[in-house]
Amino acid sequence: MGSSKTDILSMRDFSRQEAEQIIQEAIALKQKTKNLDETAHNKVLASLFFENSTRTRESHELAAKRLGMKIMGFAGTEGTSVKKGEPLADTARMYTGFGADIVVMRHNLDGAARYVADIVNVPVINAGDGANAHPTQTLLDLMTIQEKFSKIDGLKIAMVGDLKYGRTVHSLLQGLALFDNVTVWAVAPPGLEMPDHCIKEFENKTKKTIILTKDLSEVLPEVDVLYMTRIQRERFPLGQEGEYEFKKVSGMYELTAQILTRANPRLCVMHPLPRVKHKLEIHLDVDATPRALYFEQARNGVFIRQVLISHLLGVQKQRAENKEENGLWREQIINQQEKKDSYLYRLDNGTLIDHLEPGKGVLVYSLLGLDKLGATAVVSAHNIESTKYGRKDVMAIHNVRLTPRQLWKLALVSERATVNFIENKQVVQKGTVVLPRMLEGLLLCQNLNCITRPEHFEHAPSKFYVDQDKPLRVRCYYCERTFDQKAVELIR
Ligand code: NCD
Repeated sequence: MGSSKTDILSMRDFSRQEAEQIIQEAIALKQKTKNLDETAHNKVLASLFFENSTRTRESHELAAKRLGMKIMGFAGTEGTSVKKGEPLADTARMYTGFGADIVVMRHNLDGAARYVADIVNVPVINAGDGANAHPTQTLLDLMTIQEKFSKIDGLKIAMVGDLKYGRTVHSLLQGLALFDNVTVWAVAPPGLEMPDHCIKEFENKTKKTIILTKDLSEVLPEVDVLYMTRIQRERFPLGQEGEYEFKKVSGMYELTAQILTRANPRLCVMHPLPRVKHKLEIHLDVDATPRALYFEQARNGVFIRQVLISHLLGVQKQRAENKEENGLWREQIINQQEKKDSYLYRLDNGTLIDHLEPGKGVLVYSLLGLDKLGATAVVSAHNIESTKYGRKDVMAIHNVRLTPRQLWKLALVSERATVNFIENKQVVQKGTVVLPRMLEGLLLCQNLNCITRPEHFEHAPSKFYVDQDKPLRVRCYYCERTFDQKAVELIR
């Protein structure tokens, strides 16, 4: 693993080389051809499972024990102060205060592990955050595939079941995108399809199209790996409506030994487990066939987690500096001649916002807080003629130079606005605004399960990467969801 990796939060953070190195070391550890050093000896693991778990928690804890570590923490929040309403940040800080050298955590909110990783000074392993990610599961999945097929490149893999809420498949898709020429089928019942942002990320990275279908029998003759998942009752809305939605789709995919006789002879069955006894997505008669890999898969988790914990404890965690590398302007024209516009609005000093989409003037006025500027006069012209765009709104703000935050807000709601700073009737700067790489405190994440949503009261700050400026595409730093211009909502 590259020495720079100080937390395990998402497969998005991995290079192929880093993933392969962990997998190879875990295989060597399993085959007893390699041992891990003593780095972890007597160190303390905080095992914080806010959500149910058997395999993931036990395998991390067993891995830690094999490394000679001590363990503290909880399995489920019953009996903890979380039940009294303690913020996640406090729980995490408390455990590091008690001397945890590493935190492994599972939480129901998307982005929870990255949030904790930003707060504490020790490494954090994401053991599942809401419907977002489960990177250590992916590493053990890839290890199992590598062991079985001696390669990952070129394989054909179908993911089946709850692809909407299943964090294991979201991470697996990111993991498979690191390899060459992997063909992916996404087999899901209506309403539980793979989210668009996951599909786009895979397709952009690999230039390969994911094949979408509802029909399991269609993929059986084709694929090398059938990755089954559980329909997750706990992620459906509470109450009768959720129950109805759940019942509609549960039991839709039932794999039996009989059905598998129609499958590709090479096909292997994987599952992160648990499967559900009331409506088995894999019947028990599959277990005895050589196709069943799921118990070996679970066992591999211990080796993967031994390697991860041991590596993380050997690295000094340092906070990444948030460097602001972008300038504010796309084009700069300084000391331009007087412009007729500045006469038009009689703007001797201040900011002229030009080329606004018609109808956006009022929105911009309130978003930039221009109503709070006191004695400053704002003169707006709506739906006037524009040589460049046909129609436009224009806004002259007297005696005020907009701040970078105001300019970024403007760029978030208008794709074409240009800004002129005017001093003594001269346009001293003119251009379109360039967004910084990271937007902080400006946008409300539209994913209701994101750790940053105010209704969860975790007080995690809003942070978005600007993946693409025009047309706008932003990505939540915590929950990894992407949004385009139409979907963004500004914090007022
Ligand atoms: C998965 C999880 O928790 O996301 N289980 C696991 O970690 N092995 C899948 C599931 O619970 O269905």
